[in-house]
Amino acid sequence: MIYQQFCATCHGVNFEGGKAQSLIKEKWLFGSVRKAISENIEHGIAAVGMPGFAAALSDEELGRVTDYVLSIQGTELEARKSIPKRIETELNTLRVEILVADGLQVPWSIEFVDERRALVSERPGGLRWIVDGKLDPRPIEGLPKTWYFRDAGMLDIALHPDYEENGWVYIANSDPIGDEKDRQTPAMLQIIRGRVNGYQWIDQETIFSVPEEEYFASSMHFGCRMLFDREGHLYFSSGDKGIPEDAQDLYDAQGKIHRVYADGSIPKDNPFFNHPTQYKSIFTYGSRNVQGLAQHPETGGIWATDHGPMGGDELNWVRPGANHGWPLATYGINHDGTLVSERAEYPGVTSPARYWVPSIATCPIAFVDSELFPEWKNNLLLGALKFQEIRRLVLEGEEVVEEEILFQGYGRVRDIKFGPDGALYALLNDPDQLIRITPYK
Ligand code: HEC
Repeated sequence: MIYQQFCATCHGVNFEGGKAQSLIKEKWLFGSVRKAISENIEHGIAAVGMPGFAAALSDEELGRVTDYVLSIQGTELEARKSIPKRIETELNTLRVEILVADGLQVPWSIEFVDERRALVSERPGGLRWIVDGKLDPRPIEGLPKTWYFRDAGMLDIALHPDYEENGWVYIANSDPIGDEKDRQTPAMLQIIRGRVNGYQWIDQETIFSVPEEEYFASSMHFGCRMLFDREGHLYFSSGDKGIPEDAQDLYDAQGKIHRVYADGSIPKDNPFFNHPTQYKSIFTYGSRNVQGLAQHPETGGIWATDHGPMGGDELNWVRPGANHGWPLATYGINHDGTLVSERAEYPGVTSPARYWVPSIATCPIAFVDSELFPEWKNNLLLGALKFQEIRRLVLEGEEVVEEEILFQGYGRVRDIKFGPDGALYALLNDPDQLIRITPYK
C-alpha cells in the first residue's frame, strides 16, 4: 500500500504521527481541499521537510494516495496499547515495570552514576536525576543552550570510565551559533563534558566541535551516540546532517564515527592520523545517522546501528578506517521513493552485518552481559523507533544468526541500558517513559 510504503515512516504506521503529524487532521496546516492536499503530496513542502512524490508516484498513484488520505479523516486514532506487566518471549518471561510515566520530556539517554541514581538527558535541553527509580522533580540547571528542532537537541550522555573519581559527564549537544529559538540559525554537533554538582552543571569543557565557519542550518541527522570502550577511547557518531555526500568526504566531520581520548586528544593509531584532514578523529566514514554504539563483551568489537533512508537500516561491525558506504551503497531508497544509489555494494565499501528493509528505524543497542539474563548472554538487544520494538539478535562472528522481536508497539525505543542491578532499562518516546525489565523467576 502506498501509504505504508511511502508515508508511514513519518506520519505513523497506525496514523499516530511521529516525525510528522498524523494525517488524521483536525486542522490542515497547508490546505484542506483535495487539490491542495494532492499538490502537497506531489511537490512536497520543502520548508517543513515534507518530500515531494512527483518522481516516485504516477499521476494515478498520486490520486489514489490523496483519496486514501481523505478517506481516513474522522476515523478514531487507535488508543495506544499500554505496556503489559508480563511478556512471554522465546527463552524467558519478562516482567515490565513502568518507573516514570510523567514528567520526562523526550528523554534520549540514560546513564547510571551509582546503585541508586541515574542521569537522563531530554532532547529539548534537560538533564534530570532518577533516584531509586523515581524522577526527581528538580531539573539540573546551568546547562548550555541547545538547538531543539527535529532531529537536533540534547542527545546522548556518557560517563567517563573513572566517573567515580573525576565526575565527568559527557553530553552530545546540538550547539546553535545564534538564538536557539531561531530555526534558521547554524547549529552543529558538539561533544562537551562537565560535572553535575547537586543540581548544577559546572566545569564545562569542549571535547569536540567544528570551527564556526563550518556551522550550517539543518535540523536533520545529528547522530549522536557515544561509547567509551574498555581502553578508555571515546567513540561518537555524527550524522550526515542531510547532506549525504559529506559522509564520504574525509575533510568533513559529518557522517562519521569518531574516536578520541577522554580529554578530546587524538589517538596516534587512529586510521586517518596521517591524513591531511583536520578531523583526525575520524574512525570510520560513510554513515548516515548512527544512533546505536556498543562494545561486544567478549570480542571487544565495536558495533553500530545506522538509521537508513527508507529501507536500509544497518548493523555494522565498526573497524578502523572502514567505509560503511552511505550514500554510495545502500539497501534503502529516499523517502520520496527515488533511488539513493543503484548499488547495495560498492568497491571498498564494507557491507553491513545485517540490514532491514523496510526500515525499523534502528536506534540504541546494548550487549547482554547481565546475570539476570544468562540465556541471552552476549546477545545484542536493539531498540527501534518507528517499529517501537526491542529485538534480540544472536551474533556469530560477523553474522546475525537469529533474531527475535521481544515486544512491539508500546512507544519509540530511544535508549536501552543495563543498570547496576542487572535489569534492562529502556527510555521510550511517545509516550515518554522509563521502564525496567527483569525476568520472572
Ligand atoms: C520524511 C518525512 C515525511 C514523509 C515520508 C511524508 N511526509 Fe507528509 N509531511 C511531513 C512533514 C514534516 C509535514 C509538515 C507538517 C507535519 O509535521 O505534519 C508533512 C505534511 C504533509 C501534508 C500536509 C498536512 C497539512 O496539515 O496540511 C500532507 C497532505 C502530507 N504530508 C501527506 C503525505 C503523504 C500522502 C505521504 C506519503 C506519500 C507523506 N506525506 C510522506 C513529512 C513527511
